[in-house]
Amino acid sequence: MKNVLFVASECYPFIKTGGLADVVGALPKMFNKNEFDVRVVIPKYMCIPWEYRQKFKYVTSFYMDLGKLPQHIYVGIMMYEHEGIKYYFIDNEHYFGGDKPYGNIRQDVEKFCFFDKAVLAMLPVINFKPDIIHCHDWQTGLVPVYLRTLFSSNGFFWGTKTIMTIHNLKFQGIWNINMFKYYTGLPDYVFSPSNMEYKRDGNMLKGGIVFADYVTTVSDSYAGEIQMPYYGEGLDGLIRKKNYALCGIVNGIDYNVYNPEHDIQIYEHYTPDNFKENKVKNKRGLQKELGLPIDDGKFMIGIISRLTDQKGIDLVNWVMERIVDPNTQFVVIGTGDDKYENLFRHYEWKYKDRVSANIFYSDNRAHKLYAAADAMLMPSRFEPCGLTQLISLRYGTVPIVRETGGLRDTVQPYNWYEQSGTGFTFKNYNAEEMLAAINYAKTVYFTERDKWNGIVWRGMKQDFSWGKSAGRYAELYYRLTR
Ligand code: GLC
Repeated sequence: MKNVLFVASECYPFIKTGGLADVVGALPKMFNKNEFDVRVVIPKYMCIPWEYRQKFKYVTSFYMDLGKLPQHIYVGIMMYEHEGIKYYFIDNEHYFGGDKPYGNIRQDVEKFCFFDKAVLAMLPVINFKPDIIHCHDWQTGLVPVYLRTLFSSNGFFWGTKTIMTIHNLKFQGIWNINMFKYYTGLPDYVFSPSNMEYKRDGNMLKGGIVFADYVTTVSDSYAGEIQMPYYGEGLDGLIRKKNYALCGIVNGIDYNVYNPEHDIQIYEHYTPDNFKENKVKNKRGLQKELGLPIDDGKFMIGIISRLTDQKGIDLVNWVMERIVDPNTQFVVIGTGDDKYENLFRHYEWKYKDRVSANIFYSDNRAHKLYAAADAMLMPSRFEPCGLTQLISLRYGTVPIVRETGGLRDTVQPYNWYEQSGTGFTFKNYNAEEMLAAINYAKTVYFTERDKWNGIVWRGMKQDFSWGKSAGRYAELYYRLTR
């Protein structure tokens, strides 16, 4: 039996701002219970909904020293068992009391300096000795660093191996070195250029990559891309150096949550065998709900995304007037940067009968859009994996994506001659190229519906459930602890 601890800053269903939470929520359940005891630890944010928080059970608490802080800091441990997995929550109201999980970077860095140390300090107390500590993204980058320094003489961790999984290299947790020294108490050599130093600052993700036994990222293509300057975010050199201990393992999605055959949130259920008659009922339902003209004949394009620079919204802006022709409806769901939110509000105002801007996040509406749309647009600048295209494929909604990262690995371009492929793709970060892909999709949709239906059908038949990828993580866990 191997013990595995997932450490992360978010986890569905407790707290979610992005795909990270979906992965941390789904993956631990996928391992064989006779081989692996997988547990999860995240902060006990005050903004976790009360319906969950009220069920957390107090386990224990203690006081921990932290860097050069004069006083010892309270660490509360709560536990909740949910769908067969033990979740731990680190409690400290000073750090986790806000109304959002993240705020300004200065405070976020400090609170994860605390969290990462508290995670290690907790383990002997609850007597869970992990064979593998599996860390996710910059917020947990100090776990491998603390383990190999401040905790290295603690026999409890003898044999414990660490994995650092990169879900997004863009965010690294960078702040002033003196502050890191103050809040972590880590020895000076840790802040050298070959360790945590990055352009004179401290960098938590860099620390995680250097000190972890193994590094993974969430698709094969992204694992290759981040070794090049364009995608490397300043760490490509380090990642090339570490590539003997790096691989990409593509994410899956939870096939119980995302299943058009049983999804209780959508207007009408459908399968690969009856989507032709039934999927369109979802379009009608959503058109009515959104106040768009109810018309089966419109080509409905969806965007479900954080509205940030990463997601390629600039390209959409460049050619929006040409995307939303009279035969097209465009529905966006998401929040993010003001300029992108306002852009879609503007187009909704200008094209009331074609554009619906849902500038909020609603899980329910997202499910309805996955079921209703004909195509889903993801023109990302970079995309470590992307989950939206995987969910779209499952719902028979044809992805239109840029060939980058996980998008490239999971969507095969439509090929007319072979009648193969599951979506429409374009290569360069260029608005005209994106528009050409969208127009090609429209042409097939309006003039060769049988072929379009073939694309839909092939997409629905793909398997992006977690099984295969969980198997690769299991192999890695064995390999590292042999
Ligand atoms: C981040 C990435 C996204 C990935 C997700 C889960 O949100 O931007 O591409 O799917 O993490 O790994």
